[in-house]
Amino acid sequence: MDPQTTGRVGRYDLVTPMIPCKDEIMAKFESILTTGNFILGEEVRLLEQEVAAACGCADAAGVSSGSSALYAALAVAGVKAGDEVITSPYTFDATVEAIVLIGAHPVFVDVRPTDLNIDPEAIEAAVTPRTRAIMPVHIFGAPADMAPIEAIAARHGLDVLADMAQAFGTLYAGRPVGAHGRMSTLSFYPTKNLPGIGDGGMVVCRDAADADVIRKLRAHQAVTLGGRLHTGWNMRLDAIQAMAIRVRHARFGAEQADRDAVARIYDSFVPAANRLRLVGDGMKCTYHQYWLRCRDRDGLRAELDRHGVDTGVYYDPPLHRHALAGYCRQGGELREAERAGREVLTLPIHAALPFDQARRIGAVVRDFLARTADPAGNEVPSP
Ligand SMILES: Cc1ncc(COP(=O)(O)O)c(C=O)c1O
Repeated sequence: MDPQTTGRVGRYDLVTPMIPCKDEIMAKFESILTTGNFILGEEVRLLEQEVAAACGCADAAGVSSGSSALYAALAVAGVKAGDEVITSPYTFDATVEAIVLIGAHPVFVDVRPTDLNIDPEAIEAAVTPRTRAIMPVHIFGAPADMAPIEAIAARHGLDVLADMAQAFGTLYAGRPVGAHGRMSTLSFYPTKNLPGIGDGGMVVCRDAADADVIRKLRAHQAVTLGGRLHTGWNMRLDAIQAMAIRVRHARFGAEQADRDAVARIYDSFVPAANRLRLVGDGMKCTYHQYWLRCRDRDGLRAELDRHGVDTGVYYDPPLHRHALAGYCRQGGELREAERAGREVLTLPIHAALPFDQARRIGAVVRDFLARTADPAGNEVPSP
């Protein structure tokens, strides 16, 4: 198919899924304009209740971004300067920035080749007397393996604070991922599965008291936690964002079903060894990104580009090679994170992607992998 006549296939479509919501958003926007309640207020409170319920949590606190949510969760858990937080190097910068901003040190352990999530087997060796929390990241919408992570945390008296910016709707062992760990953080950045029309975030809390503390911190109230005085700051969520997110939330199931259908189409073209494999019952990935691995990743990317298809390369290099690495420590070998950085490619996925386009993209990938006899397998380490 000629991309000149069909147009390119973009990685995201932020506009088409919004169209069915437009009239409702515009009507509610007008009503917000007339009330003058632009920040926090009723829309934020309702969104907090709806998201907390969807995540199986006692409460949730809306904040200005996913980055603010990470910072607030770390503060409320009492993470302080000099502490260590064990996390994945295969994540977006914000995970590490929040730990560094609070004065603590990220300690990186490797990821699993099957789901690119933090490897529970690598965590315990990285625990030291300074470790205060474990921060798994449910990367690309796939659930991190929470049961062993929570068991390690319990053995060592640590908090589990999960970055679920990419994983609204994701299930672990049949329950929402947000129902695991002490707190989990969400981003409503417009590319996320549950998006706003600007920045926004939320901390979902197993204990409602944690959400109450975040409501203070987000609005300039100083709070003493674990003997340490934390300054408040402006981390408030706008009423307009909350309203737009609520409208999208009402359609989340239908939009997610379309993403799931696209992922199933891709699965039918991509060999199992080259893509996400979920282990265990009741696991559900929400495919914030659909990824596959290929040794000639850049060759496959160029081939898809020739067919008019945009693709994504993520966390290459992973965060232990970024500018903030000086604040971080490696808690073991990071071979799989390095390999993911080199080999992983993401395909377009969103609620408005036509299924025939997904089939066309899948066929290009299948043919490329077959032609180049790509041996990338989850069990086969690269040289
Ligand atoms: C894994 C992860 N953590 C944190 C964030 C930060 O969210 P925000 O952009 O809303 O600050 C993102 C957003 O891209 C993310 O993907």
